[in-house]
Amino acid sequence: MINFLLGVLLLAICSLQPVVCSRDVMGPHLDNPYQIPFLEANRNVSLSRTWQILGPFRSGTREAIWGADPLEYYNGFSSLSYSTNATFNSALAVNGAARWSLVRADVSSTSPGSIKASLNVSFPEVEWSFLQSVYGWSALQYQAWARGFLNVSQPNGQTIALYMSGLLEFLVDGKRHFGGNFYSYHRAPVILHLSQGQHTLDLRLTRDVRALGAADEPIIGVDVEAEERQMSLSIDQESLLVSDITQGRLGNGWASINVQNNLAEWVEIVSLSSPDASQYVLDMESLPLFPYQVRPLIFSISLGPPLKFEFSVDIIYKTDTEKGEVLGTLPFQVKLVEKSLSETQKITFLHSARIVSYAILRPPPLTSTCGFHEGRKPIPVMVALHGAGLQADAPQVREMLDAANFICSWKLLPTGVTPWSGDDWHIWGASDVQAAIAAIPEWIKNVNWTGPHATVDNWILTGHSNGGHGVWFFSTHYPDNIIAAAPVSGYSSIENYVPYSMWQESDPIVSSVLQRSRSNYKNELLLENAAGIPIFQQHGSNDDNVPVYHSRLMHELLGRTQWPSQYNELPGKGHWFEGIMTTSSLLEFYEERATSQYRPTTPLSFTISIPSSGAMGSVYGIYVDQLQSPDMNGKIEVTRDLGNGLWYLQTQNIHRFRLSVSTRVEVPVALVLDRMEYPFIVNPSLFEKTWYLKSPLNRWITSNDTEWKNIYQRHGNQMGAMDAILRSNGAFTISTCSADAEHIALQISRNLLQYFAADSLVSEECSSTAPFLDQTSKNRHGNFIVLAIGDDLPPSRNPAFPIRVCRGTLMLSKICNPLHSTYEAGIDSQRAQKYVSEYTYQKGLGALFLRPLENERLELIVWGADLHGLEQAARLVPTLTGVGQPDFLVLSDSCRWKGHGGLLAAGHFNKFWQISPSSYLYRGPGTYEKYSL
Ligand SMILES: *[C@@H]1O[C@H](CO)[C@@H](O)[C@H](O)[C@H]1NC(C)=O
Ligand SMILES: *[C@@H]1O[C@H](CO)[C@@H](O)[C@H](O)[C@H]1NC(C)=O
Ligand SMILES: *[C@@H]1O[C@H](CO)[C@@H](O)[C@H](O)[C@H]1NC(C)=O
Ligand SMILES: *[C@@H]1O[C@H](CO)[C@@H](O)[C@H](O)[C@H]1NC(C)=O
Ligand SMILES: *[C@@H]1O[C@H](CO)[C@@H](O)[C@H](O)[C@H]1NC(C)=O
Ligand SMILES: *[C@@H]1O[C@H](CO)[C@@H](O)[C@H](O)[C@H]1NC(C)=O
Repeated sequence: MINFLLGVLLLAICSLQPVVCSRDVMGPHLDNPYQIPFLEANRNVSLSRTWQILGPFRSGTREAIWGADPLEYYNGFSSLSYSTNATFNSALAVNGAARWSLVRADVSSTSPGSIKASLNVSFPEVEWSFLQSVYGWSALQYQAWARGFLNVSQPNGQTIALYMSGLLEFLVDGKRHFGGNFYSYHRAPVILHLSQGQHTLDLRLTRDVRALGAADEPIIGVDVEAEERQMSLSIDQESLLVSDITQGRLGNGWASINVQNNLAEWVEIVSLSSPDASQYVLDMESLPLFPYQVRPLIFSISLGPPLKFEFSVDIIYKTDTEKGEVLGTLPFQVKLVEKSLSETQKITFLHSARIVSYAILRPPPLTSTCGFHEGRKPIPVMVALHGAGLQADAPQVREMLDAANFICSWKLLPTGVTPWSGDDWHIWGASDVQAAIAAIPEWIKNVNWTGPHATVDNWILTGHSNGGHGVWFFSTHYPDNIIAAAPVSGYSSIENYVPYSMWQESDPIVSSVLQRSRSNYKNELLLENAAGIPIFQQHGSNDDNVPVYHSRLMHELLGRTQWPSQYNELPGKGHWFEGIMTTSSLLEFYEERATSQYRPTTPLSFTISIPSSGAMGSVYGIYVDQLQSPDMNGKIEVTRDLGNGLWYLQTQNIHRFRLSVSTRVEVPVALVLDRMEYPFIVNPSLFEKTWYLKSPLNRWITSNDTEWKNIYQRHGNQMGAMDAILRSNGAFTISTCSADAEHIALQISRNLLQYFAADSLVSEECSSTAPFLDQTSKNRHGNFIVLAIGDDLPPSRNPAFPIRVCRGTLMLSKICNPLHSTYEAGIDSQRAQKYVSEYTYQKGLGALFLRPLENERLELIVWGADLHGLEQAARLVPTLTGVGQPDFLVLSDSCRWKGHGGLLAAGHFNKFWQISPSSYLYRGPGTYEKYSL
């Protein structure tokens, strides 16, 4: 009892704690940036030819994000020196001992002022093929370290941009830079100033079968490229995005180009100008760049006559030096391309996270049968999702539907924003597809297209490889938009692609939490949602990249849903060949589906499966807003009675749903929920305004109250596991509450740009409050990422939020009594019986968790008891897919080598932002348990 009371008391004290946040501590910097623009172009940076290697060690699929580096057990690679005698225990190495070795790199100068070292690391003495015969592709993944040196000869030092292709992390003179450039995007370098002399580069090498393939010997190839920077700003000319011109008009005015700040101080881009400004108008908002930050400069172009295809634009920027404001200009070239109406063309548009993205669009063929006559109805959109590592305007993608051009439909090849579509076409990629489709009507207006319009919610969806996975994802998560689906050489889920068997050990409850997070994309479990969609599967029987097993499996599983797929296995064919997306059987399928425009049949009964994250669109107009618990998937079994228009719904783990207008099915007259006596009469004019929800007494009721969409309840864009942070309406804001956290703010900003091409504003204000009040501002603010050390963390906007810091302890409270967790407003949570876990601050203690903000927004808290803990937590801010971050995590110092096995807590939040019963909370030394009522 005393413990219970103490817990209440402590909670009360915590919520009264004033929040003291450090702010604006951009003190003077070591480097002298003011000299940079005036430096002589004395290029003089060299890289080692000989690199020291230590490895191999085991590494699981996407596990390196968690730490899981065996050498951290020995204080980290940086603390070790080359020694031919030293051995380190390793489950992969011969005789169980990994040793040092040397490897020679190719060092070359790619362009003036730029030097590159390329090294291939391999361990041929390991019996890879035998390991593979036992453990599969997971045995071909491993990690190792490499050490080399970079010399700077200039007496004043040199500002350098480092592009580290194939790496996830590296250290310069012992200072860690996490994120790297795993997919070799070349988008966001690490920019730093190095003094004269020798600098140590420690590279963590990780082999990943999904990124590097499994066909050959498991070599790790990495490139270290150092580019000297003489100017204050650099332009990444390659990153320029503009629409093509058609019929003398720009398809869309949105444009962007990435700008890199080479200074150790803030730079603000204030405007754009150009000598040719009479022919076009450029519009932009001012863009502040954090020291060494890279951001996309977003602007819009309006062209006026006479048409000009090439022009130069000057970026006007200012730096604040001690001598006062200094203005500078930096030019770049814009070159527009003209396309005819019948060609594939590039269209730009705004992604919901306020960046400019593009897609390749091809209008319907200009034939009389396809609509160039009066009264032609809108026609469907064929959407084709590309495979991993490809740009949508690469010929392989751009031309992949050429042979299907005769089909009467719009053709759209979205990018998913990056060659890996950000997150394998999940949250980030799906937002891009939706924005690309919404850009078609804009294009129609902009270029004065007079042919048939597009039915933007009737998609014929196809995709190859990673894009084939995307087709499965859309068919299971957003089925109402799809009239036909053709996954080609696609994989079913990342876990089925490269098994997770080589991960570090952990208590099964911890692995189950991670597995649950990944299961949101386990399409095998959600196939029932595709009922009624005609699906045509195609896969080469000799595919050595995505094994044909994936397609056979999905075909088998679909066979059990009453809605079997058409399945076409191509004997002897591999992963890709020219024409793979337009084989005769695929063309036949596309044409038939485009002609009919609708799904051929609607099932009389169907089942809706909701992933435990609750992140999903509607199925036949049923949209589930909230699940009872995030610890299992939700289900609704629907049976329609055509005679009386009644729909019988049998639910499992559903808390709240609504009906939306669906063109796929006749609306129900009434709903019978869980065999209740009285059906609910359905009024279509109240669709989207009426919710069906479970009352505290576990009975279904209806409500038109919209007040529930508040800070206490998880809803809308907040659904998902930790990757829900990517569903941002507006650019990200990275807010630093502790002065020491600034390099982590820069790192997170860089990784968002590198892996998602996402934009973020770094803010030295420790608050997600201020910008929200400023709703009228042109700067729309999306989700926040808040960095804090120790007690600097401000409290949540939700007073009942279960994770808080309080004078030297991190406190998590988990509701024990499930009856109390069904209160509506959430305010009552203070009264519920809780189990409180307290973790006293210690070296390396870190935490990462989502918190709600108003308007369906989120903040992701990156917290550490000290800088080590903060750095650990920051590794897990979403970058690669398949990592499995749940809604919250508490990390111990041992995560550095144990990976997820070192977690102190992990789990999911329920609909009221409370910790779910299946979550893991460590109760052991250094933690205190309390119960409170
Ligand atoms: C490096 O500097 C030395 C002396 O300052 C000069 O001789 C040499 O050409 C420079 N090398 C490069 C690659 O710029
Ligand atoms: C860097 O400088 C050190 C010390 O001056 C020298 O021993 C080393 O060879 C140099 N390394 C390279 C890659 O130039
Ligand atoms: C390596 O081992 C040999 C033989 O055991 C020994 O003579 C030598 O001193 C050792 N070298 C180092 C650097 O420890
Ligand atoms: C690394 O391997 C690639 C392809 O296997 C080869 O082209 C390249 O020359 C190799 N580089 C080095 C430094 O060995
Ligand atoms: C659009 O095209 C139609 C038909 O070709 C033409 O009559 C009309 O003037 C055009 N509109 C504009 C704004 O150019
Ligand atoms: C909800 O329904 C009640 C009566 O059923 C009605 O008076 C009220 O205006 C409705 N509210 C909204 C927001 O539609």
